[in-house]
Amino acid sequence: MTPEPQPQAPDSLMLFGFWYRAMASGALTRNRLHKTMLLETPLVLGRDREGKPFALRDACPHRGMPLSHGHFDGQQLECSYHGWRFDAHSGQCQLIPSLTADQDLKCDRIYAGAHACEEHDNYVWVFIPDPPPPGAGFTKAAEPPIPVPRVPTFSDKHKIAHLTAELPCGVDHGIIGLMDPAHGPFVHQAWWWRSRHSIHEKQKNFEPIPMGFRMSAHTPSSNSAPYKLLRMYADAEAITTTIDFVLPNQRYETIQAGKYWFASLTTVTPITRNHCRIDVVACWNLFHWVPFGAGLLKFVFAKFVEQDRQTMEKQSEGLKHNPHLMLIDDADRPAKWYFALKAAHLEAKRTGAEVKHPIAGPVTLKWRS
Ligand code: FES
Ligand SMILES: [Fe+2]
Repeated sequence: MTPEPQPQAPDSLMLFGFWYRAMASGALTRNRLHKTMLLETPLVLGRDREGKPFALRDACPHRGMPLSHGHFDGQQLECSYHGWRFDAHSGQCQLIPSLTADQDLKCDRIYAGAHACEEHDNYVWVFIPDPPPPGAGFTKAAEPPIPVPRVPTFSDKHKIAHLTAELPCGVDHGIIGLMDPAHGPFVHQAWWWRSRHSIHEKQKNFEPIPMGFRMSAHTPSSNSAPYKLLRMYADAEAITTTIDFVLPNQRYETIQAGKYWFASLTTVTPITRNHCRIDVVACWNLFHWVPFGAGLLKFVFAKFVEQDRQTMEKQSEGLKHNPHLMLIDDADRPAKWYFALKAAHLEAKRTGAEVKHPIAGPVTLKWRS
């Protein structure tokens, strides 16, 4: 039975209560404050004297002046309007200069909105909690209930590289574009990769995993040059690749060939309702004997991401006018799962019940690409 294509409009809802990549580590320099935005939340980021990053909501709890206009001495941030001083990590107010000696306002009960902030794998990650209850200004930073996502690694010695691109579309289109298998032959053509004439029928097994789904370990398609190369050099009979998608926005890809491995974590981060950013971090222990190995790999990745970015830029012209959209089986099934997972997550949050995973068990999907 072939079901009718389903009309489906991404809801652009952003998921609070998760860690998000805020900035590449290298971009967060020590000597100044940096403005950024995640999930329509304006943030100011910086590094303390030891280089440890911090993230505060970019609004003073007094009268809303962006703290990024303030002065930072390496430990405390001073608002540019009335000089209130805040601890950069906890956000706790340290000083209100206008208070006289006999005024006993407890300034340490006041907090600038501080966010949990950690640095891993070339990125500064920031936890974005559910929008705080009214009365913010007196609330401490939320303790993240989950750890920061990491790129999986399989040996101590490895290389790491990252790249980033801004996409002029909402997070949903960014994510379903990432998991869409059918655009490959049309968007990612290159002589060293594949041509649209190499399109053929594929079959992949999927299984549910917590908060997401996995394209089970399989041998990557033989029609792409890099995999052919890898097979030749890595001296491995079987190359397997596994791809996981995990809410809210994470795509893990792991390729293993004997003792060689390559792993990446790609995220699509909502900046505003119709603007997102894609960040790829890859770690690997192969190609280290190939001159320019890292450079070459980065070139290939950058090319892919740029092709996706250009495609989504064009797509955004069409989306401006709210066209009707559809998702078809089986090529768009992962996109349907994404929306179902998101809905299940939000429903569980609303009711306090367990998440009802929308995928009951292993499924085989077929498509041509
Ligand atoms: S607005 Fe920041 S101190 Fe008044
Ligand atoms: Fe793509």
